[in-house]
Amino acid sequence: MAAVGPKRNRILAFIFATLVVALGVYFFLYFEQDLRNYLASRMGTRSRAEDSLINIPKLILFSLLAFLGVRALSTIIFDFVFRLRRGYEAPTLVRNIFSLVVFTILFLLIFNRIYTEVNLGALFTTSAIFGVIIGLALQDTLGNFFSGISLHADRPFQVGDVIVVGQQKLAGVVESITWRAIKLRTFTNHIILVSNSTAAKEAIEVCSRGELNARYVNFGTLYTDSPAKTIHVVREAVRDADNVSPKITPIVRIRNLGESSIDWEIKYWLEDYAKYNDTDALVRQRIWYALRRSGLTFAYPTRTIQLERKVAPKPVTAEEQIADRLSAVDIFSPLSPEELQKLAAATVGHVFAPGETLIRAGDEGSSMFVVHNGRVQVQVTENGRPRPVAVLSEGDFFGEMALFTGEPRTASVIAMEETEVLEIGHVAMKHLFETNPDLVESISWTIAERRASLAAGSQQLAQGSIEESAGLLSSIKRFFGLR
Ligand code: CMP
Repeated sequence: MAAVGPKRNRILAFIFATLVVALGVYFFLYFEQDLRNYLASRMGTRSRAEDSLINIPKLILFSLLAFLGVRALSTIIFDFVFRLRRGYEAPTLVRNIFSLVVFTILFLLIFNRIYTEVNLGALFTTSAIFGVIIGLALQDTLGNFFSGISLHADRPFQVGDVIVVGQQKLAGVVESITWRAIKLRTFTNHIILVSNSTAAKEAIEVCSRGELNARYVNFGTLYTDSPAKTIHVVREAVRDADNVSPKITPIVRIRNLGESSIDWEIKYWLEDYAKYNDTDALVRQRIWYALRRSGLTFAYPTRTIQLERKVAPKPVTAEEQIADRLSAVDIFSPLSPEELQKLAAATVGHVFAPGETLIRAGDEGSSMFVVHNGRVQVQVTENGRPRPVAVLSEGDFFGEMALFTGEPRTASVIAMEETEVLEIGHVAMKHLFETNPDLVESISWTIAERRASLAAGSQQLAQGSIEESAGLLSSIKRFFGLR
């Protein structure tokens, strides 16, 4: 009803304008000859100027009349005949093209009638350059115009359809398609104008008003809820919701077995797609109530965490490991656990790569080593070539000769594999000697043995070694300041 008022005003204004122009034409024709005579008497021989003064208003008046006539004709054809026959409003573009063509023809006829001496055919054929200039200037406009024509020819959508245009996903209801653009009304009641040439290039998703368009709504239920029951309950709750088409039964199906829920989707068809936001919301609401009534539960993110208590064994300290290792060394076997612990605390661990030299023959040395892991080779140089003397492994010791006698290293010691050694310094040994006099003796035996082996190149203990050992004993005691 609200549209009737403005429409009536428009018709009244149109009738009034037509009457004014018609009267203008009538009076102009009535007084035309008198006007010509009057101007001829005033202007004398300048008949061209006199013609212009008469012809220009005449052209304007007749053109106005033609324009109003075309408007009236277009209204009759499209608003009455077309609408009654087809049942929908004629596209704006078609109306515009019709008006433009008819008016142009009428205007040319009027022009030709008034300016009989002007050859219109020649005027159009000689103005090719003018045409090019106009064409370039109107490039975009013409692009839109022809895209609009092709849109109308294809008829991919109509006024009232919901369309989604391009990657930007411009969505709305089509309000009109003019010679320049498609006018969309968005769901927030904004207007978007998509130019016809843009629309012709972009992908357009059309949700036709006359067809049933589907929508999806997702929800999740607990794994303990029966799927069969969920399908039945939700489908029945949604099928009679407002704007959900009764022609196709909604489909309820499991979309995914999620981390903390069975993920569902419901597909349903809409009567009026333009109202999909409201209908989606209504469907969700229906699902909530239906689940509540049936004792089904919406899932929310849950995670089952299993805690495992591990009884950690008491860690063995590095010092305890070292004390263990030292207790396995034969020269330290007489030591008490406390003494071993003290000795372990005084040692420093080192790790060597295979092939690395731990001790170089002839160097000064003030510490000895126990092999913790791995193997080392003792070698001396004879005639410029290395001669292996012994291979020492876990629990063996070396470097004691220089430490206890103060002499240079007697041989080189090289790691045969990755080897970890424990270094014992002069001070730590001195403490041990003070409390364990027997230790000096057993060490002096080993040294004598090794010296003999070095000298003879054999493992056999020579008789001289016993005497040497006695000499060593006293020299070690002297070196360490022991009595
Ligand atoms: P030192 O002389 O301080 O440095 C080289 C080490 O090689 C030496 O102490 C001994 O510990 C060790 N060594 C020398 N000869 C032998 C051998 N025949 N058997 C085992 N080890 C030895």
